[in-house]
Amino acid sequence: MARFYLTTAIDYVNNRPHLGQAYEKICADVIARYHRLRGDAVRFVMGNDEHSQNVFKRARQLGQEPLAYCDQMEGEFRQVWSKLDVSFDDFIRTTEPRHRAAVQEMVRRSHERGDIFEGEYEGWYCVSCEEFKPEKVLVDGACPVHHTKPEWIKERNYFFRLSAYRDRLIAHYEAHPEFIEPESRRNEIRRLVEGGLEDISVSRAGQAWGIPLPFDPKSVVYVWFDALINYVSATGYPRADYTDWWPADLHVIGKDITRFHCVVWPAMLMSAGLALPRQVFGHGWVTFKGEKMSKSLGTGVDPLEAADRLGADPLRWYLTREVAFGQDGDFSWELFEKSYNADLANNLGNLLNRVTSMAHRYRGGVLTGRGVVPDLGRFDEAREKFRSGLDRLDLTSGAAAAMSLVDAANELIARSEPWKLAKAGDEAALDGVLWDAAERLRVAAVLLAPYMPSSSGEILRRLGVAHEPSTLRFDADSAWQANGQRSLLQGSLLWPRLEAPASAQVSVDIHPAAAASTATPTAAKPATARSGGPAQAKEETSVTDQPTNPNPPAPAGVPLTQAAAPTPAADNRISIDEFMKIDLRVAKVTAAERVPNSRKLVKLSIDLGAEQRTLVAGIAEAYEADALVGRHVVIVANLKPAKLMGIESNGMVLAASPDGGKPMLVAFDSPPPLGTRVR
Ligand code: MSP
Repeated sequence: MARFYLTTAIDYVNNRPHLGQAYEKICADVIARYHRLRGDAVRFVMGNDEHSQNVFKRARQLGQEPLAYCDQMEGEFRQVWSKLDVSFDDFIRTTEPRHRAAVQEMVRRSHERGDIFEGEYEGWYCVSCEEFKPEKVLVDGACPVHHTKPEWIKERNYFFRLSAYRDRLIAHYEAHPEFIEPESRRNEIRRLVEGGLEDISVSRAGQAWGIPLPFDPKSVVYVWFDALINYVSATGYPRADYTDWWPADLHVIGKDITRFHCVVWPAMLMSAGLALPRQVFGHGWVTFKGEKMSKSLGTGVDPLEAADRLGADPLRWYLTREVAFGQDGDFSWELFEKSYNADLANNLGNLLNRVTSMAHRYRGGVLTGRGVVPDLGRFDEAREKFRSGLDRLDLTSGAAAAMSLVDAANELIARSEPWKLAKAGDEAALDGVLWDAAERLRVAAVLLAPYMPSSSGEILRRLGVAHEPSTLRFDADSAWQANGQRSLLQGSLLWPRLEAPASAQVSVDIHPAAAASTATPTAAKPATARSGGPAQAKEETSVTDQPTNPNPPAPAGVPLTQAAAPTPAADNRISIDEFMKIDLRVAKVTAAERVPNSRKLVKLSIDLGAEQRTLVAGIAEAYEADALVGRHVVIVANLKPAKLMGIESNGMVLAASPDGGKPMLVAFDSPPPLGTRVR
C-alpha cells in the first residue's frame, strides 16, 4: 500500500479563517480524499501557527492569556473545517509539547553543526509577515503586502547560515524538478536562489511568547523557523519512528510563502540531517471580486457564510472546479451561484432526479443490469483523465472528467428517449438504457467523492448502491458494472435551482435551524423543509427542466430562508392551513448567554407567559447577550427540540437577515402579552 503524507500551511490564529485559507484546506482535502480513493495509506495534517506576535497582541487586546486565546481559536478553526468536511487526520498546534520537542531538537542539531551562530541584527520587521524586510522591497517605507510601516529592530540574535546552502539547493532543484510545482514558482525560486542567499535571523530576544532556544533560553525561536518544523513534529520527530511518515509527499501552501518552503525549509532539513519533502505546491490566491481578501476593506469572505448559503459541497465544487489549482481565481457570490445552478442544479442534480424518477415510473424503482456492456471508450477516457488529472494535481480537470460522465448520461437519455421505450413496452431496451444512465451517474459519483463527499454519498445511496465512503476504491468502484439489481430511492432535489440570485435577496431567517443540522450531510436535507417533499422532473422534458425553487436551498448549517423578493412561484405557495401549522408566539428573553466555542449561538431562557423554555439562537454575532435580556421576540413554538452544541433548544427565534448582513430581531411597537399568537 502506497503511503501519502500531505500537509497544508498552518494558519495564524489572530482572526477567524477566511475563504483564502479555506480554499487551501479544501484543495488539500480533495487530494487527500483522492489518495484514499486510490487505496493509499494517507496522513493529512493541518494545524495552527500560534507563536506569531499578532496572535499574542490579539489575545492581549481581548484581555486573554495567549494560550487560552489559542485554545478558543482552535475550536473556531475546527468548527469551520468540520463544516467544510475537511478530513484531516491530525491537527497540530505550535504550542503543543510534541512540537516544542521537535523544534528544540532540530535547532540543537543545526547549532551543533555550526549552522546557527550569534550576531547582531538590525532592520525593518513586518509583524504581519513575521519577516525582516530589506529596504529595497518597501513601498514608500511600508510593507508592500500589508501597507503598514514595519518596526525597526536592532537586537542580538541568532542566525541560520542559509547562504551556505545555495549550491546544495540548486543541485536539489536540478535533480528533482518536481520538488516545486507549478513550474512558474519553480522558476521564480530558482532565480532567487541563483541570485545568492543571505543568512537569516532565527531567534527573537526578550520575548516570552515562543519556544526557547535550547542553548539560550532567554531567546525564542523565530516564528517561521518554529512553524515550518510542524511538518516533522506531526510525525513524532525526534522519536525514531518519525520516518514512518517522514518525508512528506506534499506540502500544499500559498504562493506568498513558497520562499520559506522551498528555500529556508529544505536548508533547515539539510542542516539537521533530515530527508527533504518530495514536493511543495504553491497554489494561487483567491480574490473577492478581483480584490485581495481583506477584512478591513470589506473584501474578506467568511467560509461559513458561503457554506451556509448554498452548502459546503457547492462551495468545495466552486473552488476546485472554477479556480485552476496553481493560478489565482476570483470568488463572487454571483459566480458561486452560477456554478451552483449550472453544474449542480441543472446538471448533476437534475440527472439524479431524472434517473430515480424514471426508475420508479417505469420499473417500479428497481433497475436490472442484464450483462450488456456498452461502448466504453468515452467512459474509460473519463476515468483516465480523472486519474491523470489528480495525479498531477490538476484538480480542475479531474472535476471536469467526472462531470463528463454526467454529460454522457444526459446525452444517453436525450438520445434514447426512455419514455418512448416505455410506451412501446420495450422492457429489455428500457432496462438497458436506464441501467446505463444510472451506471454512468454512479461512477460520476465515485469520481466526485473527493470533491463533494457528502453529496456523492447521497447520490450513491439513492442509486441503491450500498457503500461505506471510506471503503470506496477507484479501481473497483469506478469500473463498469454490467450485472445486478438495484433499488433506487427518490428524494428531494439535492440542489434546487436558484431563480433570482440569492446574492440580491433579503431573507427572513428562523434561527438557528442551521446549527442543528451541521451534522447532517448537505445533500441529504436541502429543500425538503421548504419545497414540501420530493419534486420530480418529467422525463419527457429537457434535461434542465427541473422544478425550480426561487429560494436558495437550506444547506447544512443555514437558517431556513424564505426569500422576501421575488414572490415565490405559484407551486411553492402554501395554503393558510399549512401556515397555521406553524405556531408563532410572542415571548420575552429572561436570560441570555453566549454558547462557548460558538461564534453565532446564544442560549436564551424565554418566558412564553404560560411556560418557560430554553432555546438556542444563531444571533450572537448581532446581539450582545446582555442586550437581549428583556427583549420581546417571536418564536416558532411547536418545533421539535434539537440539540445545538449539546444544549437542547425548544423553539426558534425569528429574525430578518439582510443578505450579507447580520440578523435583526422582529420588534413590536409596544409589547403584546406573552404567549400571543403571531399570524
Ligand atoms: N502561518 C503561516 C504559514 C506557516 S506554514 C509553516 C501563514 N499563515 S496564514 O494564515 O497567513 O496563511 C495560511 C495559508 O493560507 C497560506 O498558505 C496562505 O498562502 C494561504 N492564503 C491566505 N490567503 C489566501 C488567499 N486569499 N487565497 C489563497 N490562499 C491564501 O502564512
